[in-house]
Amino acid sequence: MQQVMPRKKTPTSADESNQFTETRRDFLKQSSLLTAIALTPASVIKAADEKWDQKFAGIFEKVSLHLEVNGTKHDFLLDPRVTLLDLLREELHLTGTKKGCDRGQCGACTVHVNGMRVNSCLSLAVTNEGKKITTIEGLANGKTLHPMQEAFIKHDGFQCGYCTSGQIMSAVACIKEGHAGSEDEIREFMSGNICRCGAYPNIVNAIKEVKEGGLS
Ligand code: FES
Ligand code: FES
Repeated sequence: MQQVMPRKKTPTSADESNQFTETRRDFLKQSSLLTAIALTPASVIKAADEKWDQKFAGIFEKVSLHLEVNGTKHDFLLDPRVTLLDLLREELHLTGTKKGCDRGQCGACTVHVNGMRVNSCLSLAVTNEGKKITTIEGLANGKTLHPMQEAFIKHDGFQCGYCTSGQIMSAVACIKEGHAGSEDEIREFMSGNICRCGAYPNIVNAIKEVKEGGLS
């Protein structure tokens, strides 16, 4: 069988000119790179190897923060991008505050900041300088549960419990912030706290009882 070889193209003067230009460009690129490497001090190359530039940037980017959490004062040096939720859970290990959606839609991360409820996943920690934070861990008085915690137990205001710390923090705020005048008002105020188990009617009953008993 006869093999068909690709036909060789006869080089034209234009081809030769392009080839020369490319070769010259490649040579200039390579020699510039080699010159740059040769002129870079060894210490700089080593620092780049060990990512010192990133480490220094990390130190300079940290900001200080002072908070009071559940009655205890804390000083932090932290990345300004850290949320209040992550600070509470990851640094202080207060894992009663839950991360559900991490985007302000479920209410599982609700805490009190200076007495007002806040979705901690939407709050950058550094914006809370000098403030007082209360989490579910700080609601009880020692071994005595807060009346809202008692009411949630009494009225079965939870099933799996994942949303419960956020629900209780919102429920306390619901009364304190003056939004527990009626069932409709309670439901409206609590609508940002999602419960996949559907414990809503029992949660409303718990809030009503605490409000009527003047216990909050
Ligand atoms: Fe913050 Fe869902 S985790 S609102
Ligand atoms: Fe399960 Fe509310 S008790 S999500």
